[in-house]
Amino acid sequence: MLFPTCSGFLALFLVPFLTGRFATVHYEVRSNWAMDKSSDQLREVEVPHRLSAVFSSHFGAGNAMRIFRAPGRVNLIGEHTDYNDGFVLPAAIDLYTWTAIAPRTDRTLSVFSENFQQVEEIDLTAISAAKPRDHWSDYVRGVAVMLQNAGIPLSGANMAIYSNVPLGSGLSSSAALEVSVASALLAVSGRSLPLGEIARICQRAENEFVGARVGIMDQTASCVGATDKAILLDCRTLEYKLLPMPAGVTMVICNTMVKHEHSGGEYNDRRAQCEEGVRILRKIYPQIKALRDVSLAELEAHRRDLPELIYRRCHHVVSEDERVLKTVSAWQSGNWTEIGRLMAESHLSLKRDYEVSSRELDLLVEAATGRPGVIGTRMTGGGFGGCTINLVESANVADFTAAVRAAYTKAVHVDPEIYVTTAGAGVSEVNEND
Ligand code: GLA
Repeated sequence: MLFPTCSGFLALFLVPFLTGRFATVHYEVRSNWAMDKSSDQLREVEVPHRLSAVFSSHFGAGNAMRIFRAPGRVNLIGEHTDYNDGFVLPAAIDLYTWTAIAPRTDRTLSVFSENFQQVEEIDLTAISAAKPRDHWSDYVRGVAVMLQNAGIPLSGANMAIYSNVPLGSGLSSSAALEVSVASALLAVSGRSLPLGEIARICQRAENEFVGARVGIMDQTASCVGATDKAILLDCRTLEYKLLPMPAGVTMVICNTMVKHEHSGGEYNDRRAQCEEGVRILRKIYPQIKALRDVSLAELEAHRRDLPELIYRRCHHVVSEDERVLKTVSAWQSGNWTEIGRLMAESHLSLKRDYEVSSRELDLLVEAATGRPGVIGTRMTGGGFGGCTINLVESANVADFTAAVRAAYTKAVHVDPEIYVTTAGAGVSEVNEND
């Protein structure tokens, strides 16, 4: 059966879809540009001009260079539901990956990463034989492979890439890279695709090339994000609705500084455990296709048919889907106390049932809980490190960041990066002088 509250919800809120990772790398990021601390990061206005200069110094001036920018994302609620065909509520953030690109006459992609200070050459004539190397360029190669597999013949190009999305922090630096590169490659090859299709191709790059079986949330958020809007996404249909961020509420992201990766390992294990749950439950409910189709009552009725671990994994996903829909109702009626309660429940469920939180994430949540102006706090993204998302009344942001920084530094002896973000626009071409 369809998730109980879901059909009414869809009828009420969802508008037709307008045509429409995250594996992180472990390498230390180097850059000639100051970007170690959030406060020192280049803001987006400065980047196109500087990236253009970097591009010219590597590949020469005078090319018809264009620049594409794709954002990272933060997830407000709906964690590990996307690959279960469920609901998520992310927002694109004002941290981005930029790709400067110009065509070449041969069929080589020459890619310079400003963050890693490395050049990679990718031979498009041999792209079907390309293999991942646990390297930042896997995402570029993977996107090129999947675009070609989708029947898009790519032109050779020179590319320079820069990102201020912190790597390995659960803010989708991989999706930002994939979407930025895909948009640049499409443009230089004289092609265009609907945003939903770009998101799917980028997800495929990560699933089938890099080897992380991530869902569709990050790439979609990077494609369809909108200024001052959260995105309610149905991960089965890819239909989405933009919800205005409330005035006077700020998204504050706190980074544990513990990096994580999704390529293989625990993330893929969780996904396999959900599939195992579906396999068992389908014997009882043959019509279900994914955990999204199971209600909490149905899950509880057959709790004993599932191994205890599988039950807990399913319980997280099924209850989290409900929490997303309840959050949207509370959002519509301005019930921020309820949103705070749902975010707290989500964190506990991720900690106890899904077991993807960590001591550091829990400490950040504890440090934030109950502070003046805090509406809600929880871990965000895949987990095992990374960041928390905090909805904070704007007037309290300065006191909040100071207090959380002090508490975390005292407990862990690590200074957390804190990003005071706004919901930003999805992928677009930008002007060098913007
Ligand atoms: C990572 C994945 C997403 C999603 C989240 C957890 O960010 O890339 O697809 O599964 O974890 O919600």
